[in-house]
Amino acid sequence: MKANYEGPVKPQPKVVQSAFEAPTTFTQWKMEDLQYGLELVSSPRNPLQRDFNRGQRMFSKGQCYNCHYMINKGGGFGPELTLAGNSFSAEDLLIAILEPSNDINSRFPSTLFEMKDGNTVAGRIISEDGERYVVQASYDPATAQDVMKNSIKKRQEADYSSMPIGLVNTMNREEIMDLLYFIIQVAGMDKDSLNMTVFEDKPIFEKGDSSLIEMISFSNRGNIHYTLDGTEPTLKSARYQAPFFVKTSASVRAKLIDGKTSSKTIVRQVHSVNRAEHGLDWKLYRNVSEPFKVASNQQPDATGVAYQIEVRSIAEAENNFEIHFEGYLQIDETDDYKFYTKQDDAVKIYIDNKLVIDASSRRWANDSATTTRLTAGKHRIKIEFYDNLSFEYLDIEYEGNRLSRRQIPGDQFHRSKPAL
Ligand code: HEC
Repeated sequence: MKANYEGPVKPQPKVVQSAFEAPTTFTQWKMEDLQYGLELVSSPRNPLQRDFNRGQRMFSKGQCYNCHYMINKGGGFGPELTLAGNSFSAEDLLIAILEPSNDINSRFPSTLFEMKDGNTVAGRIISEDGERYVVQASYDPATAQDVMKNSIKKRQEADYSSMPIGLVNTMNREEIMDLLYFIIQVAGMDKDSLNMTVFEDKPIFEKGDSSLIEMISFSNRGNIHYTLDGTEPTLKSARYQAPFFVKTSASVRAKLIDGKTSSKTIVRQVHSVNRAEHGLDWKLYRNVSEPFKVASNQQPDATGVAYQIEVRSIAEAENNFEIHFEGYLQIDETDDYKFYTKQDDAVKIYIDNKLVIDASSRRWANDSATTTRLTAGKHRIKIEFYDNLSFEYLDIEYEGNRLSRRQIPGDQFHRSKPAL
């Protein structure tokens, strides 16, 4: 019965890891709060750039793996969910999560026993023999209890699910949408075509800690080959065997290769940072009706530090706002650099007070700046992001002649002025 995943043993972090994700909020989510845009979650075009990886992390954060088997790991207390996305719409999934007792899977009922001695026992029947039922109140085998058949006075099916409520209350709206997206996408994975993915358990971690990298093939053919330095994987690159830990910032690229054919390259970035030193300061301005017109003396509505350029954990499901990131970009080697952005709605990047990308009118465009020569050392960087209506998204990459294209590693951003 115990199908729990046993991954590699985690190295002991030297520094206590703290959450770099959005600060944990607590919301008692109800269906009506999450209806907005729900149907877009299952759109194959993924118009909102839902984050499959964050969805998988939410599957873990929400304890779903404890009870549900998914792709390659998980428990058997509840039904396997690998193919759930085929029979459940985004809305059905949300109902199953927010209101588990609304429609109980008949193969996974909870049972109530009234015993002859007056006691009651409730839980899922995990196994039985001629004499007894083994009943578990939760996924934890330690809660297993023997119910002797000859001591039962009455047995009935419970009208509630043994799946707890409130599992997504520590997630924000975007994270819940990503969770649904993940479950739906997994079901649609085509076994006949070369198809794979990479998961990381922490996109950002404190130096001294590490992130677990796990690669999964959805295909029956080929092998996964990967690199950690941002270069394109080939047959000569390392072959993936088992989950492994990375301890430094890395740009993970992987693809399934089968003879001469291969899947598309999957790119994941992890950032190893020292929180006291790295990152960019950000300021959030709300109710901005015109882009890039915030007065320099205007008071921000919120401030913080970002270790990765990303806007959804700062402001999500808001409109008419601007975020300014400011600090220093460490350049290790003098070279010509190109910056690439993908944004909704608009972004401008300044380096040493010079505008290097002006994507203020080309929503969703992939922009590359004219090449900028940067000398080794720290350079002032300012990124201004504007969101007008509906959804918000920002991704920035850079590339040099001797540096393959990647997100800027979190430890290349510094908040303090360079020493003179
Ligand atoms: C303590 C164990 C437990 C945890 C944790 C748990 N579930 Fe469940 N879940 C169950 C059980 C048992 C059922 C079957 C009974 C039912 O339909 O409510 C179920 C049913 C479901 C179903 C309906 C599937 C079907 O085939 O009927 C979905 C979808 C689901 N869970 C999603 C999730 C997600 C997503 C999470 C994490 C946020 C989660 N569950 C966490 C125990 C759990």
